[in-house]
Amino acid sequence: MKKIRKAVLPVAGLGTRFLPATKTVPKEMFPIVDKPSIQYIVEEAVQSGIEQIIFVNARGKEAIEDYFLKDHPQGKLLAEVQALAKLASIVTVRQKKPLGLGHAILCAKDLVGNEPFAVLLGDDLVDASTPCIRQLMRIFEEEKSSVIALMNVEKNQTPLYGIADASQRKTNPRVYDIKTLVEKPPQEKAPSTLAIIGRYVLTPEIFPILEDLSVGQGGEIQLTDALVKLAMVQKVLGYQYEGLRFDAGDKFGFLEANIYYALKRPEFRDRLIQALKRLEL
Ligand code: G1P
Repeated sequence: MKKIRKAVLPVAGLGTRFLPATKTVPKEMFPIVDKPSIQYIVEEAVQSGIEQIIFVNARGKEAIEDYFLKDHPQGKLLAEVQALAKLASIVTVRQKKPLGLGHAILCAKDLVGNEPFAVLLGDDLVDASTPCIRQLMRIFEEEKSSVIALMNVEKNQTPLYGIADASQRKTNPRVYDIKTLVEKPPQEKAPSTLAIIGRYVLTPEIFPILEDLSVGQGGEIQLTDALVKLAMVQKVLGYQYEGLRFDAGDKFGFLEANIYYALKRPEFRDRLIQALKRLEL
């Protein structure tokens, strides 16, 4: 079984949840403190040992790859970004129509080739001592199977996520054997409160499944539906990752992430606490 070298980062989304700000600026470029949110995702991948980042992007959102690839007159001040682009090669493929997450992953098929790969969704920021995708890669190394990140949510949140029907391992309670998955079920149809968050390690057998898939929830080609089919022919695991997750594609989640990451910065921490106290109504 091959090593995970490549990560697919789908960034073609329209950012509807964050209008009007996303009308002309990709949500992935919104700063969390002073870095675009997509940089946190690229850093997570690089820190996990990923060698190639594959952006699946759309027309009009070129600012994302330009950010990592273009030179800047004040280049010296941007050493951190340049170092990232040197640690991993960055390539882009276009998703020509917004046909869903499953379709976006399929667009990366030729660049990924016949090897297992990681997927990181830009909306989900996870702060963890071991990067979230690295935690999944470790499980992949032990079990040689696809792994998806899971977190427990409130019952009324289940319509916002892919939800797992899974059995918890006694030997390692963070690991689940996936029986099946449902994309954004109504609350009463959710098989559990275990939600998929945007980190996956997938075997290349997902590609032929995606090629054959018809549209699912929301009229889109869903990665979750492809995983249901993959789980019928191969072991698919869930992993309840360790870490704190923010939904940066949501207005409130984005605010929360900004406050959290600013509080972690020594130069802002005390001032921010004081400012929040002063503003409290
Ligand atoms: C996608 C997946 C969903 C998952 C979610 C995590 O949905 O389809 O299964 O729970 O990401 O962020 P999206 O939020 O892109 O609609």
